Amino acid sequence: MTPVLELANVEKTYGSGAMAVRAVKRADLRLHQGELMLIMGPSGSGKTTLLSLMGCLTKPSEGRVLVEGREVQALREEQLPEVRSGSFGFVFQDFNLFPELTAEENVMLALDISARPSRTSAAEMLGKLGLADKVKRSVRELSGGQKQRVAIARALVTAPPILLCDEPTAALDTETGLAIMDLLRAAAEEGCGVAVVSHDPRLTRFADRVLRMQDGVLLEAAA
Ligand SMILES: Nc1ncnc2c1ncn2[C@@H]1O[C@H](COP(=O)(O)OP(=O)(O)OP(=O)(O)O)[C@@H](O)[C@H]1O
Ligand SMILES: [Mg+2]
Repeated sequence: MTPVLELANVEKTYGSGAMAVRAVKRADLRLHQGELMLIMGPSGSGKTTLLSLMGCLTKPSEGRVLVEGREVQALREEQLPEVRSGSFGFVFQDFNLFPELTAEENVMLALDISARPSRTSAAEMLGKLGLADKVKRSVRELSGGQKQRVAIARALVTAPPILLCDEPTAALDTETGLAIMDLLRAAAEEGCGVAVVSHDPRLTRFADRVLRMQDGVLLEAAA
């Protein structure tokens, strides 16, 4: 089966000369449809960099990225936004929400940008995340955990083929965090390829595969 996302020998160095940081070293990775992959590792080991390479938000210094079989390097710069919005749902470590907009407007933006028809409305998706009463609230009035759930709703609402989640449960209490993992697991059951970055060892039971990042090196770990 062709992986929905593939990295081949991908390298990312920030800066140059004495200031150079090799954040990701020669990473090989295949994410398949229906698979939930967990990526663990200490702070600064390169997890967010890896995720942004996977999501075509960062250009690799070397190596190849294939999204749904398409070679990303072969695309023109102006084609990348369409790949990002068409193939991916992102949950960013710092949420990346628009604080002045309501929860619903933030989620609706993802629907507006997406090329795919959606079966779920923004309000419905927020309801699934326990935010039915916050739909019309502006994001700046929400707690950290509520913001995190808006970010997750925005990623899930378009039912993308690939979901990339950076510490999606970090701002949540245990119970809410596990409920979010159930939702990500359900997305995988429906055929989505899901990659989750986390420090939390309690999440391993939701994963089909666990990878470990150590000082820029990506290694397969026992699940
Ligand atoms: N834009 C950037 N410019 C220069 N260096 C960067 C940049 N982003 C990250 N780095 C460096 O690359 C390395 C990996 O950072 P990254 O954010 O990928 O780690 P991480 O594993 O996600 O950490 P955390 O668990 O704290 O989120 C770190 O040494 C960091 O300082
Ligand atoms: Mg990070």
